[in-house]
Amino acid sequence: MTIASVGELFDLSGRTALVTGASSGLGWRFAEVLAANGANVGIAARRTDRLETLKSEIEARGGHALPVPLDVTDIDTIAPAFDAVEKAFGPVDILVNNAGVAAEGFIADMNPADWRKVLDTNLDGVFLVGQEAARRMTAVGKGGSIVNIASAIAFKVSKTLGAYAAAKAGVVQLTKVMALELADANIRVNAICPGYIETEINSDYFATEGGKKMIQRYVPMKRLGDIKELDGTLLLLASDAGSFITGTPILVDGGIAL
Ligand SMILES: NC(=O)c1ccc[n+]([C@@H]2O[C@H](COP(=O)([O-])OP(=O)(O)OC[C@H]3O[C@@H](n4cnc5c(N)ncnc54)[C@H](OP(=O)(O)O)[C@@H]3O)[C@@H](O)[C@H]2O)c1
Repeated sequence: MTIASVGELFDLSGRTALVTGASSGLGWRFAEVLAANGANVGIAARRTDRLETLKSEIEARGGHALPVPLDVTDIDTIAPAFDAVEKAFGPVDILVNNAGVAAEGFIADMNPADWRKVLDTNLDGVFLVGQEAARRMTAVGKGGSIVNIASAIAFKVSKTLGAYAAAKAGVVQLTKVMALELADANIRVNAICPGYIETEINSDYFATEGGKKMIQRYVPMKRLGDIKELDGTLLLLASDAGSFITGTPILVDGGIAL
């Protein structure tokens, strides 16, 4: 039996990917990583000016990207985003459901509007975009991979994160049900559950004394994750290297959820 090289195993040449929430943080990185490994990538978010910058960066490395406006809480924007990506690159084989927001607050004090926003974006958004991908992938009949970005908070909660924890635990369960329902169509559905990963929106906080103490107290590996430490898990789930993996939440969290 032949043995594939690492490059061949994770190769995404000829695939079409769509990454939601690609305008910053993890989504930006996911789009770069998929493009660097051969995929043509639809990059979706509300801040399309930032997507144009990402497109330039991907193209400067020889990749291909298409910015598409998308608000995962607005169902009317979802099909047009898929249509635009399909027109440019062909049907979507890989969906990374990454768009997300956070809102903190003790349950007793939480404004219901904050609760609604977190659930709308982080859970309903994953359902709506995932549903569109599932329908289209099933119609094409070539299978596919859906990677939902959940969180270690789906497994290990902390105070003030009620809405976020509920939404992310919902994403993990939704991932399993989708995997079960779509297995016949060879559409794999998995989740990445990151711990604290340093991004532009949290690096200021983690540099404070409070942030440093928090890492020492709650992260067994006693450090933040580097954004590049998600690359391998993403490629495993998106590529044929993970061709028998479905319905699995993978923790990439330095041990937080233990
Ligand atoms: N960083 C971490 O430590 C960490 C840990 C665990 C899980 N996560 C998860 O990873 C994902 C990315 O987080 P991040 O840290 O990279 O945060 P981020 O830098 O704030 O990025 C969030 C992304 O989501 C997009 N977004 C928000 N609401 C949207 C909407 N309604 N429609 C479309 N896009 C929307 C934003 O784009 P626009 O504002 O331009 O639309 C942005 O691109 C989230 O699901 C988050 O929960 C992050």
